[in-house]
Amino acid sequence: MNHLAVAVILAIESSCDETAVAILRGELNQPAELLASVVASQIEEHRVHGGVVPEIASRSHSLNLNGLVEKSLEIAGMGMANIDVFGATMGPGLASSLLVGSTAAKAMACVSGKPFIAVNHLEGHLLSPFIDRTAVPHHIGLIVSGGHTQLMEVFSPGNYQKLGSTRDDAAGEAFDKVGKMLGLPYPGGPEIEKAARNGNSLAYDFPRSMMQGGELDFSFSGLKTAVLYTLQKDPSAKVEDIAASFQAAVVDVLVEKSIRAAKATKSRLISLSGGVSLNRTVREAFTQRCNKEGIDLAIAKSELCTDNAAMIAFAGLLRFLSGKIDPLDGDIDPNLKL
Ligand code: KG4
Ligand code: ZN
Repeated sequence: MNHLAVAVILAIESSCDETAVAILRGELNQPAELLASVVASQIEEHRVHGGVVPEIASRSHSLNLNGLVEKSLEIAGMGMANIDVFGATMGPGLASSLLVGSTAAKAMACVSGKPFIAVNHLEGHLLSPFIDRTAVPHHIGLIVSGGHTQLMEVFSPGNYQKLGSTRDDAAGEAFDKVGKMLGLPYPGGPEIEKAARNGNSLAYDFPRSMMQGGELDFSFSGLKTAVLYTLQKDPSAKVEDIAASFQAAVVDVLVEKSIRAAKATKSRLISLSGGVSLNRTVREAFTQRCNKEGIDLAIAKSELCTDNAAMIAFAGLLRFLSGKIDPLDGDIDPNLKL
């Protein structure tokens, strides 16, 4: 079964607060064809609590999943019999949430006698800018999400070297925490971006941490604390100015370290993925700097930046087409690394 050169995968993503199902047809060295991608966001359910509540998340996944599988098959114009392989996110993420999606995908694989593919959520993000390309070339990949900030040297699919990651908060987490401090709704990332449009990014000179030497790790907790002190000193500070100055500090660090990593590894391409890469200021800053340095840039399409199953399907499909399948008794791993 694992020798197919063309395959249709149905994949499930349920690592955090989005339940998602996608169907993708792919062939080695050809752009993949996304046949369906549906997402049920739980943001509204969690917003009243100011963050994700695991118990609510897993319950919603189990209630949403069946309908999403049926809807994705309908959109793709297919039946279960047309699916060659089933995939699911096995980690990192919330254990109770991961279990719902992975158990459902394994059950479908088991009943239909088709193979199962285990996918690392971070690999899903990392490869997401390449869904409609013919290949994933050697490059530097920056994953910036709510849970992770990671710089990877990508040699080929499945062959990665981690160059740097955050020592404390992830970039998205810093956006969310600063959003909370500013009294903005959850999640803070998009709200800060909105507020920053009417603010002065030079109003506050917030710290850009760990910029010395060739350091490729990140740290955002000092920046978060600097925002807190500023608010304590001046409770009437303009939210828009703090948002714009905070965002500028995050952007500077992300861009500088990615360029540094590209130069150190002689990479001619940088890719950007994860929820924070939706941010327009982030996209523009990377575009300008990469242009200036003569480095190509691949950014995930906006619908593929936040959690979705298309990216899980793509990473799973590449794994399957390279000849791998995973056991049905493999366990989820909330701390799975890439
Ligand atoms: O990739 P993702 O959906 O989930 C994880 O795997 O973590 O990323 C969610 C994160 C949240 O922290 C959210 O605030 C952030 O992405 N985010 C943004 C924007 N849209 C989402 N951060 C900054 N600007 C945005 N426009
Ligand atoms: Zn994610």
